[in-house]
Amino acid sequence: MPKNETNQMQKIVAWSKRRGFVFPGSEIYGGLANSWDFGPLGAQLKRNIRDLWWQYFVVGRDDILGLDGGILMNPRVWEASGHLAGFNDALIDCKACKSRFRADHLIEEQLNEKVEGKSLAELEKIVQNKALKCPSCKADKLTAPRQFNLMFKTFIGTVEDATSTVYLRPETAQSMFVNFKNILDSTRVSLPFGLAQQGKAFRNEITPGNFIFRVLEFEQMEIEYFIQPADWEKYFKMWEEAMSSWLDLLGIQRSNWSVREHQAQELSHYSKRTIDFEYNFPFGTKELYGLAYRTDFDLRNHEQFSGQNLHYQNPVSGESFIPHVIEPTFGVERSVLAVICDAFEVVTGGRGEASRQEEEVVLRFDRKIAPVKVAIFPLIKKEPLIKAGREVLAGLRNQFKFMANFVIAYDEAGSIGRRYRRQDEIGTPYCVTIDFETLDDQAVTVRDRDTMNQERVKIAELGEWLEEKYG
Ligand code: GAP
Repeated sequence: MPKNETNQMQKIVAWSKRRGFVFPGSEIYGGLANSWDFGPLGAQLKRNIRDLWWQYFVVGRDDILGLDGGILMNPRVWEASGHLAGFNDALIDCKACKSRFRADHLIEEQLNEKVEGKSLAELEKIVQNKALKCPSCKADKLTAPRQFNLMFKTFIGTVEDATSTVYLRPETAQSMFVNFKNILDSTRVSLPFGLAQQGKAFRNEITPGNFIFRVLEFEQMEIEYFIQPADWEKYFKMWEEAMSSWLDLLGIQRSNWSVREHQAQELSHYSKRTIDFEYNFPFGTKELYGLAYRTDFDLRNHEQFSGQNLHYQNPVSGESFIPHVIEPTFGVERSVLAVICDAFEVVTGGRGEASRQEEEVVLRFDRKIAPVKVAIFPLIKKEPLIKAGREVLAGLRNQFKFMANFVIAYDEAGSIGRRYRRQDEIGTPYCVTIDFETLDDQAVTVRDRDTMNQERVKIAELGEWLEEKYG
């Protein structure tokens, strides 16, 4: 797939809307900047990714336990975690056109210089010395950079004052630290072990954008892996490998992602070492996931702020200490965007019919995450083919009723070529056609999305054939 083309991104955004993957949020009211809604196929794709992750990292391992914490937490959590004081971006306003920008983005885009971690004074000096201008109106009326906290605030109850202020969580991680003692008290875990959580997080991003890449409301899938302090390098490596395997599982091509080490000045306030898994998006190589060594920063601070003992006692030696933490973190929207970008292919000149001149879109999703697993078509919209098609559909629905997310589509409208193209466009791996021969030989034609090979399969064996493909 050609990369780094804005054109490609425009095609992806248009396709997402046309085929019901992602819609602009609140569209009939003119939208809400940088908010997106997931349509039927997008919601299914997202669910498939979340479920695969839960299966792979939680159900399939015996050292990780699941958790489902609340979005609203006691505001003291955010004092202890450092988010109230330190989860800030420096922003700059344009006094002429009132546009607002992240200072680091503005400088990086105009000077091609990395400035993450620089102080407000240092940023201001760069803006002044280089006489930077507003990217929107080109006026040289930029304000000095100032800190802006990224947490969304809301209020509990009827009074909107400081005592009723709560925050929408900016990361899911904190519930796992705050529940550490409950986990030790209610389960029989011993180190090393992890807690895993999926759920919404919110950030009042100043310059969101690039479709669903940076949004205000998104989902995270995070693991806090508790370890003996001396073992951190071993487990950092273990998680780097596990995250790489996850990318393979999603079907993302190796050549399209890479790992980048954070420089000291870019490390988050809690991290001693961080690497980013970066994906080669059409708009540039950007962070997809992160892996951080959070030391004992969070548990130690929560112990201090809450006054509760968050030490772990080694069951053999009796030694008591605060565990250290390795944190693999995954964004759901970024996963969706990466698998779409990776799978999106525009074919010119026609795939099925050589005479076709139009562009055709094929989504080469890995079968595990494809939103629709198989589509059933009677060759023409006439009896007895419709009856036979509906029987095949009912048989498969029954056979796969306990296989989560096994979505089966049925389509009898339009030419068979058009129906194949419609399924290719949403990435359905297999299409099953019921034709006149089916009535005699009780077999159907199964067409493979990628190879376009067609295979004759007995109806009685179709379920087993699909089971084999989907494992
Ligand atoms: N608990 C650590 C943490 O939150 P982060 O790097 O700030 O670390 C983790 O965020 C992941 O969440 C990112 O790697 C990315 O996949 C996703 N993410 C962060 N901010 C996002 C945003 N504004 N929109 C969409 N996804 C975002």
